[in-house]
Amino acid sequence: MATHTPAGHRTSVALCGAGMIAGAHALAAREAGATVVAVASRTEASRAKLASDLGAHAVDYSRLPAGADIVVVATPPAQHFEHAVHALERGAAVLLEKPLVLTLNEADRLVDLAHRHGDRLLYAENLAYAPIVHSLIARLARVAETGATVDHLQVRTIQPLPTWGNFTSPEWGGGALYDLGIHPLALAVLLGRVARAGEVVAVETRLRGDTTDTHADVTLTFESGLRGSVISSWEGGDVPCWDIQVSSASDVIRAELLPALSLEHNGEPVQLPRATAAIPMIENFGYIAQMREFIDDLANRRAPFMDAAFGRWMMEIVCACYTSAATEGTTTPVPSGCDRNRTPLQLWKNP
Ligand SMILES: NC(=O)c1ccc[n+]([C@@H]2O[C@H](COP(=O)([O-])OP(=O)(O)OC[C@H]3O[C@@H](n4cnc5c(N)ncnc54)[C@H](OP(=O)(O)O)[C@@H]3O)[C@@H](O)[C@H]2O)c1
Repeated sequence: MATHTPAGHRTSVALCGAGMIAGAHALAAREAGATVVAVASRTEASRAKLASDLGAHAVDYSRLPAGADIVVVATPPAQHFEHAVHALERGAAVLLEKPLVLTLNEADRLVDLAHRHGDRLLYAENLAYAPIVHSLIARLARVAETGATVDHLQVRTIQPLPTWGNFTSPEWGGGALYDLGIHPLALAVLLGRVARAGEVVAVETRLRGDTTDTHADVTLTFESGLRGSVISSWEGGDVPCWDIQVSSASDVIRAELLPALSLEHNGEPVQLPRATAAIPMIENFGYIAQMREFIDDLANRRAPFMDAAFGRWMMEIVCACYTSAATEGTTTPVPSGCDRNRTPLQLWKNP
């Protein structure tokens, strides 16, 4: 297997995990011109089913990368570190699902390892590759270029609890903020940078939930003094609401991702590129562009836009949020100086 993907070579992909999101990556790989050659999962039944659907080999986790150029790690967060390290050390590039890992200690070790293996790890914040987010960022950049100050930034993901998976178990490491909220937090970080607000320097967070958090309300303070808001919830009704609002004194930009994709600038609808993929969401939510760009990054020996260091920065913010929630929303700096061996949930429930 080639260390880097040479031009003209059809990239091969192995799936580590055969659940909901592994299926999405399989479709994205196909749309990006890659071939899924192997599927691994905990149970024989899961890996055999998806492998047969894709015309791939069903293998044990230990057999990965099974000759593939890229291993997509799509197992629960508690398995991310082990599965990503296994693939990197055997010469494969890794597309690693969010959240990066379970603890900051694991994040530190993974950032170091990914760097030693040529920065061939993509942190799968798919929304950073979504066409609607690119359109919004381009408009915000033009607003920021005029010298306007962004004074309002809000990103929300409000929906019911997923009907599959094991998201509310303590083993997952955290709930509505760590699992789902890491998407709006990432968007807020990217938008803050484009708006010239700098990095997130402090957070105030209130969490609700018994075993794990089912609702999170976060205030982010950026270097510029901008205070942004992120709400992430599994307490939403049947109609999900994922949206973004950012404004200055002269401009208001609003994007809705769910229930229906739309972008508005000062109340005027903005035309979005029309999805051509068989399942539009795979394209609209960035999974295809993410895979395509990663293949291109590997061919050009370039670190991905969403690299391991970005994934660790998200973990720093998330861990500061859970630390803040342990004291009912106390202002907490980022990085927080928390115990790097504890999961986000432990930082909140057993500080
Ligand atoms: N980017 C996105 O939009 C997005 C959306 C959803 C999820 N995700 C992320 O993707 C990852 C997987 O989520 P999912 O929704 O695909 O989950 P899922 O449908 O429950 O699939 C989980 C997969 O991991 C395997 N697995 C479960 N527990 C395991 C364990 N203890 N040890 C080893 N393997 C185990 C399962 O194997 P068996 O089926 O054989 O038991 C299955 O193949 C998570 O990190 C999640 O946060 C991302």
